[in-house]
Amino acid sequence: MDIREMDEPEDADLDAWHTLVSAAHLHDHPGDPAPDPAQTIGRIFGGGARRLWAVPHGDAFGAVASVWLPGDPALRAAEIDVHVLPELRRRGVGAYLLGLAAEAARADGRSAVLAQALAGTPAVPFLERFGFRCLLTTRSLVLRPAEVDASAHAALNPPGYRLIRWTGTVPDHLAVEFAQAKSAMADHAEGESAWTADVVRDTADNVAKRGDDLYTVAALHGPKIVGFTEVVVPGDVPARAFQYDTAVVPGHRGRRIGLWVKAVMLDWLGEERPEVVEIETDNSDDNAHMLAVNEALGYRPAREFREYLAQAADLP
Ligand SMILES: CC(C)(COP(=O)(O)OP(=O)(O)OC[C@H]1O[C@@H](n2cnc3c(N)ncnc32)[C@H](O)[C@@H]1OP(=O)(O)O)[C@@H](O)C(=O)NCCC(=O)NCCS
Repeated sequence: MDIREMDEPEDADLDAWHTLVSAAHLHDHPGDPAPDPAQTIGRIFGGGARRLWAVPHGDAFGAVASVWLPGDPALRAAEIDVHVLPELRRRGVGAYLLGLAAEAARADGRSAVLAQALAGTPAVPFLERFGFRCLLTTRSLVLRPAEVDASAHAALNPPGYRLIRWTGTVPDHLAVEFAQAKSAMADHAEGESAWTADVVRDTADNVAKRGDDLYTVAALHGPKIVGFTEVVVPGDVPARAFQYDTAVVPGHRGRRIGLWVKAVMLDWLGEERPEVVEIETDNSDDNAHMLAVNEALGYRPAREFREYLAQAADLP
């Protein structure tokens, strides 16, 4: 098999890589929007050392593989990614590339290897065949605003609370309050550090620098922010918006504030950004409460991501 290792991929290599990843994605998920080039390239160059391989196929690539070697080899797992053109599958190409990536991980001193797969695609039997175990399942949910009517939830108005909304960075007089409300998510996301007003502003700045628009709806109890939800509308593909954080501060939970702010957000986007066709959100399997809120609003399961782990020594 002709294999090229690429130390410094050129623009044409990146284009060929993206063409292959898109073809694989569309084949495994017909009808799904294709990943955009920035996503593909971000995955290849997301910081830290990488090794990249491609199998040439005519003027294009028939298969590609990458291994990411982040941080301290004694502490962090390597992450591998293998893609094979649909018409070249089941000939051992994927297994061969997996072997190269695993060898690179071992040579770098990694004892564990991570990989991601979408449920229902060949990646699942492929990874399981080589002894990968599924560590975590994350469901992505999609809501299509044109198909739901959130007005009843938007009219909930729990007594004692009022709403405020803004685009971009939080207004200065609410920045500290907002950082405190963001810290309320800590009991859901492990390792989430406490937010400060500066971190909140930096996060909003980063969204703006990417050319994306950040929308926030918050519920106030007196001067305090007790719940909020954020949606980002990408500048390049505004049809596909993303749910960012939603949280309700302990002590104010169980009053349908999460449902209320999310429904008001939908109404707002409907007026302001009618070009948004779908909003995507991820809920890890253990967050039953947020899943219930999202289902009540009309979010439906779209994709299931699986995170897999194997010991490097067990791989081919
Ligand atoms: C997953 C993928 C890389 C497999 O590539 P491939 O070249 O077809 O894999 P191989 O031919 O080396 O398969 C090796 C073994 O994996 C298992 N396997 C692979 N595809 C399978 C499928 N569709 N159904 C059941 N088992 C499968 C089989 O045990 C196979 O051995 P066999 O053909 O002798 O039965 C390919 O389907 C792909 O590109 N998928 C999309 C990209 C992706 O999701 N990558 C993430 C995983 S890193």
